[in-house]
Amino acid sequence: MNRPRAEFLVDAVGFRVNGRKVRAASRRDSRLADVLRDELGLTGTKIGCNAGDCGACTVLLDGRQVCACLTALGQVEDRSVLTVEGLAQEGRLADLQAAFQNRGAAQCGICTPGMLMAAADLLARNPDPDEAEVEDALGGVLCRCTGYQKIVQAVLDARRSVALRRAPPAGAAVGARAGKVDGIPRLTGSARYGADAIPADALWLRAVRSPHHRARFRIGDLDAFLRAHPGIERVLTAADVPSNGFGIYPNIKDQPVLAAGEARFRGEAIAAVIGAREAIERFDPAAFPVTWKPLEPVLGLDAAMAAGAPLVQADKPGNLLLDGGVRRGDPASAWRRCAAIAEDTFETSFVEHAYIEPEAGWARRSGDRIEVHVSTQTPYMDRDETALVLGLKPAHVRIVPTACGGGFGGKLDVAAQPLVALGAWLTGKPVACIYTRPESMASTTKRHPARIHAKFGCDAAGRLIAGEVDAQFDTGAYASWGPTVATRVPIHATGPYLVPNVRTRGRAWFTHCHPSGAFRGFGVPQGAIAHEAMMDALADRIGMDRLEFRHRNALRAGDTTATGQRLEHSAGLAQCLEALRPHWKRARGECAAFNRRGGALRRGAGIGCMWYGIGNTALSNPSTIRVGISPEARLTLYSGAVDIGQGCSTTLTQVCADALGLPMQDFALVAGDTDLTADAGKTSASRQAFVSGKAAELAGLDLRRKLFAAAGAPEGEWQDRRYRLSLEAGKVVFRRGGITHRVKLRKALAGEGHFDPPTRPSDADGQGVPYATYAFAAQIAVVEVDVELGTTRVLRIHAAHDVGRALNPIQVEGQIEGGAVQGLGLALMEEYVPGRTENLHDYLIPTVGDAPRIECILIEDPEPLGPYGAKGVGEPGLIPTAPAILGAIEHATGARMRRVPVLPHRLREAIRRHAAR
Ligand code: FES
Ligand code: FES
Repeated sequence: MNRPRAEFLVDAVGFRVNGRKVRAASRRDSRLADVLRDELGLTGTKIGCNAGDCGACTVLLDGRQVCACLTALGQVEDRSVLTVEGLAQEGRLADLQAAFQNRGAAQCGICTPGMLMAAADLLARNPDPDEAEVEDALGGVLCRCTGYQKIVQAVLDARRSVALRRAPPAGAAVGARAGKVDGIPRLTGSARYGADAIPADALWLRAVRSPHHRARFRIGDLDAFLRAHPGIERVLTAADVPSNGFGIYPNIKDQPVLAAGEARFRGEAIAAVIGAREAIERFDPAAFPVTWKPLEPVLGLDAAMAAGAPLVQADKPGNLLLDGGVRRGDPASAWRRCAAIAEDTFETSFVEHAYIEPEAGWARRSGDRIEVHVSTQTPYMDRDETALVLGLKPAHVRIVPTACGGGFGGKLDVAAQPLVALGAWLTGKPVACIYTRPESMASTTKRHPARIHAKFGCDAAGRLIAGEVDAQFDTGAYASWGPTVATRVPIHATGPYLVPNVRTRGRAWFTHCHPSGAFRGFGVPQGAIAHEAMMDALADRIGMDRLEFRHRNALRAGDTTATGQRLEHSAGLAQCLEALRPHWKRARGECAAFNRRGGALRRGAGIGCMWYGIGNTALSNPSTIRVGISPEARLTLYSGAVDIGQGCSTTLTQVCADALGLPMQDFALVAGDTDLTADAGKTSASRQAFVSGKAAELAGLDLRRKLFAAAGAPEGEWQDRRYRLSLEAGKVVFRRGGITHRVKLRKALAGEGHFDPPTRPSDADGQGVPYATYAFAAQIAVVEVDVELGTTRVLRIHAAHDVGRALNPIQVEGQIEGGAVQGLGLALMEEYVPGRTENLHDYLIPTVGDAPRIECILIEDPEPLGPYGAKGVGEPGLIPTAPAILGAIEHATGARMRRVPVLPHRLREAIRRHAAR
């Protein structure tokens, strides 16, 4: 950071930090969080909102938790502050930290310092708290990753002394509940996120953004602006961008880095100012010389589709981005054979990713190369997009991912990357940018709002005969991942069921909103709300239990999907449902008994199912992973797969370790850096465990073969698993029976694995092999509804997931628990409204108090293509939750909700209408 340390200034504010006396020179009204981070270098304290909403900045002030972003420096004079850096003593982790590591309670880790400090406050006052007391103490800290359950369990564990769990031995890593290989720095505050390691000499950048949904604009006298704003060195406009268009698809580069003449959404950047940090912090965007001419915006699907609607992009007739679909059989004639038909329309809203770490990063130029340090999910795509807009070759761009404080799809599009890169390229100095929370929420992608019409029919025995789904999505002003959503949804739209006659369609429409992009599931969660409501309705109509109806129709190995793909193996929905059957019977019975008591509180149990194709849709989807060993026998995994909290750095190490035959603790890790690792694709579509995992397995096998060759072993000997390998005193040691070979390597060796899952492009009817494998899942939600207030509380979730093989059960559970709580948010509370919910107090995400108890049931129907049978679980955790909750609400109240989130006023109205029928 570029503020001088001021520990010895005479008139500074004195206080103690982590037992050490310090003096800080900032103004007395400075935020303590800024002082800790910028003056004292204690970047373990995180800033997620700067408004008291997220709790990431929680520290202890005289032993009590406070938000450091709301605490003025003057308030801490002569007092004592404890930050996360002060928890470990003499190099030994505190029990709390060890418990978090053992439980997998830190995923991305950005909330972890705040969580730890809030828990430390509690445990100091109450060494033996119960679960409710823990939840109460953590209530002010938001976590977007974990679903809170493992955090609460970790705090309860820390009531007693906790030893770190030992890493598994060689050959036993896969399937072990191993701690994260990159976990400890997230617990001690030493992990460096996008805002944590900005060079002291960096200039800062701030974007000027449109306050209008749609407006033409003209930028005024920039020379006069610069003269009036000392400290601001440069202004960037569209004219400075060599190639002013980026986008996910090679043939759709429709989003400008800086808008030229017309802003197409509220929050779109039209310029950027660069200068000394103090000048940029002082800068008021209202002082920027720009004249706006607001125009009538196209907002919402109806406006986008209306005849004569203004075009959001001039070359996109009818505002239509993409129209995709799947046809199989003949639904038009099949309806006549149906004993029951259900049909309805469902709507969803914009949903914000709300990762706790806003976008942040910095760039510097080195000769003809540019280096960008940034929080991202996709370093290689960032590299290519940055190169494109700067007019450079990709090899001239280096992306160095920082620790990533959550992504969920929202950090798959570039945000600050091209801006800081362009700034550094043009000024020749490092340039940094940290988005404010409102800026992050206003300008980055969201989950696509959807309107989905569904019609399904079955015979009298409950066998599905036909399904038609028409899904329309609001894709915002630019394409982003809209084409992915519009093609993925029709494939998944009939759900994980055998439906012989199918017509599905997905369309994405441009509007004057922020782009809709990737968000955990690529539209499949919206589609699941529709197909699962149809399953409930059909089951009810033919008088069949809702779980049994799904079990009868579940896709199984040997079945053919709507795209004509035969599922050869690993289709475990039926097993998931069988595992849930006793929970289902008990929950439905308990709810019925509860409701017989009468009163305003009603309980219900619902079930939701899903399937999810792992990886890109009908596209090449490769990963390359390398593992190297130095002549001194130091082992390093070089992984281009970015760990955004889901744990792929750990699982890839586990897989590679077992393939190679060495223990996972022998591995060092180099992750993400595009100069040092090969392209392992993006962290999305639940693909890293399956695709990069397979590449890691192949890399481990490749290095094992080379090690045996270097030891002079006969051809094929490397496959003999009776050999025990170890690294001892700079040598590779091979043991078998009573014989030991110690080999000193003469040169470094590297193993490489490459995997591209086999798919086949779709034809005009959507027939093909879009994915090499699918995850399956079913969840039960039990809810309690206050029918007078319209509020819904989710009491518990039973989640059965076919993951192929749980490479690390802690992390699999963490994905399911975190996904389910995000699904709860989708169902009950999250609705992003441009201009109205651009912060974390108006946009609500689940707190620890909203999170239900979640029971994970792991089904392992192995996928032969995957590493040790694994598939993926990142997105599947979320997809069935909202449908299960909506089914449960209907069970409790009789009202079927057709719009999410189920806000109290919507539910009250639906209950009223249901009662009036
Ligand atoms: S940064 Fe202080 S509460 Fe969010
Ligand atoms: S681990 Fe809590 S926000 Fe990521």
